[in-house]
Amino acid sequence: MSQRKVVLDENELPKRWYNILPDLPVPLPPPINPATRQPVNPQDLARIFPKELIEQEVSQERWIQIPEEVRNVYRLWRPTPLYRAERLERYLKTPARIYYKFEGVSPPGSHKPNTAVAQVYYNVKEGVQRLTTETGAGQWGSALAFATMLFGVKCTVYMVRASYQQKPYRALLMRLWGAEIHPSPSDRTNYGRGLLNSNPDHPGSLGVAISEALEDAVTHDDTKYSLGSVLNHVLIHQTVVGLEAREQLAQLNEYPDVVVGCVGGGSSFSGLFWPFYHDVHASKKAPKKTKFVATEPTACPTMTRGVYTYDFGDTAKLTPLLPMHTLGSDFIPAPIHAGGLRYHGDAPTLCLLLKKGYIEPHAYNQTEVFEAATLFARTEGIVPAPESSHAIKYVVDEAIRCKKDGEERVILFNLSGHGYFDLQAYRDYFEGKLQPHDYPEEMIKESLHRLQLELPWVKELPYLKGI
Ligand SMILES: Cc1ncc(COP(=O)(O)O)c(C=O)c1O
Repeated sequence: MSQRKVVLDENELPKRWYNILPDLPVPLPPPINPATRQPVNPQDLARIFPKELIEQEVSQERWIQIPEEVRNVYRLWRPTPLYRAERLERYLKTPARIYYKFEGVSPPGSHKPNTAVAQVYYNVKEGVQRLTTETGAGQWGSALAFATMLFGVKCTVYMVRASYQQKPYRALLMRLWGAEIHPSPSDRTNYGRGLLNSNPDHPGSLGVAISEALEDAVTHDDTKYSLGSVLNHVLIHQTVVGLEAREQLAQLNEYPDVVVGCVGGGSSFSGLFWPFYHDVHASKKAPKKTKFVATEPTACPTMTRGVYTYDFGDTAKLTPLLPMHTLGSDFIPAPIHAGGLRYHGDAPTLCLLLKKGYIEPHAYNQTEVFEAATLFARTEGIVPAPESSHAIKYVVDEAIRCKKDGEERVILFNLSGHGYFDLQAYRDYFEGKLQPHDYPEEMIKESLHRLQLELPWVKELPYLKGI
């Protein structure tokens, strides 16, 4: 009988995070200040982020020590289990061996607290008393509410209005942990009030909610802002996932042929695949030429149909310009149930690797994603988050390909969260109400055309040339 799961001991929890920056194939293009058209001076970020996170953001150190206080909190749910999807394999009659790292065992139910706890720790060390943030489906907001509660600081969350209405229990969970929560656009910021004036039923978007959370942070003393994905320091914190998974597979004498994740901003996928990337492309100690596969919704196809350029991270254009695949920062996505995957851009590190051919992207519509999620729940028992189910869709297809080719590939994926707050989405799927949603090509073209009109000088910047 094969081993069903690997559970590491608490003292095997990683002591260091991995930073991919020194191991990228070319230097990461810098963020640009749109006012000066020059690379951002990291010190300019001090108004919104604490010093140590800014240092991590630009650090060229390959390994970064995890503070003991952060490891102590991680111990509440980490190391997380690595499962073999034996019943799914049997159902599919595949020779593939499928493994998943289950991040849904954290109290908020996803990988998000891996960075929330670290970010709150560094903010508290600097005397910050309140953090603001945005949230889509509520996973990130609840992770930050949980972490601020543990460290005794205040938390204000702007939650995309469409999700606030779709997922009332996520909002309640944040309140339970002591956070203040506002549907976005809200009447708490100038930006939100402006949007509500022109459209009182504005559904909101992640880009809008980020703008509100940033405005709130910069207009109040003792308050800073916290982001749940995209930035280098966030992805660095998530590498505990991949470092543990690598150790767990080693205990089984296994190494993945393919590592799979879903991408909203890219933090859960990067957290899993970076340590394997290090083995394959930096230390070159990997026994296999592992493939890295990133999945996304057809309703928000940043990696498969977005353009690699500089764009704002938010809709009010408060952030620096980031080098990334984008659908345009004014993109308002269809209200699909994978709320955490509805961001117009992706992490700059991920986009660079995608552009250089190190990542294979795939997009799926929500109907086929829920079909895969249901199969997973009916074989493995765990109810997957809609976001993570994009990865499951690829895994099921790959396992079927292995059967056709007679190949015993080892597949590893990130089950980044559970879906117990998403049961309404499963109900909609059962009742045939889910729309497949394909984002129209004209909308992408229009949005990017607006971006070019607004920032015509971006194409003259030297940083993306040759990438
Ligand atoms: C369970 C889950 N997985 C994945 C994501 C996508 O974000 P990221 O790409 O940063 O991991 C989210 C975002 O909220 C999420 O809640």
